[in-house]
Amino acid sequence: MIIAIDGTLASGKGTIAKRLSAWLELPHMDTGRLYRATGVAALQQEVDFDDPCALADVAQNLDLNAYDEAELRTAEAGLAASRVAAVPAVRAALLDLQRRFAHQPGGAILDGRDIGTVVCPEADLKLWVDADVETRATRRWKELTEKGETLSLDDMIAQLKERDERDKSRADAPMIAAADSVLIDTTHLTIDAAVDKARAAVEAVIAQKSERSEP
Ligand code: C5P
Repeated sequence: MIIAIDGTLASGKGTIAKRLSAWLELPHMDTGRLYRATGVAALQQEVDFDDPCALADVAQNLDLNAYDEAELRTAEAGLAASRVAAVPAVRAALLDLQRRFAHQPGGAILDGRDIGTVVCPEADLKLWVDADVETRATRRWKELTEKGETLSLDDMIAQLKERDERDKSRADAPMIAAADSVLIDTTHLTIDAAVDKARAAVEAVIAQKSERSEP
């Protein structure tokens, strides 16, 4: 089974993906990590962010093991990620890796922005996870301040709006809910309640599949 989980930043999609992965014993890829690593590598190598070929080269030669989680989770890495993600050549360089991961025997769970629309339009289940911008900014701000970052909540809201806008308005693979996705709005949900909704959607797909396979 292939499960595509897309949605906005700090909507809870990553946590839902991890919990479904543990429950279903399916491998999980956080595809944002690919863009974050590309952004961080480009910053470290002082690559010109206006040079699509140089950025694609960074993506093509990415060593995902070269970065620790903390390095990839900073606000700076997130902003760099959303800039490199707007470059079609970067997206193309990372596509095959994601598709191969999705199509491994038994399937997989991928979370990102364009999994249901571009990477795996054939996914068995597509979830779109979202929440209002203030709620998402407050979640991410708490996470980052606990790690010692010193930005204000207002700055966080502004950054989130900037990243949402860039992700939505890019010409290639814009962040958009697939028409056949199941919406989970986590604004007023605990993470357990959001995961329960996701599990119910998975169970509905499993039931449909077994109905179809019955003689
Ligand atoms: O999900 P995360 O915040 O780690 O993603 C970082 C950035 O990577 C996003 O803001 C988005 O610009 C980009 N991204 C993307 N497509 C994906 C996953 C992430 O464009 N499938």
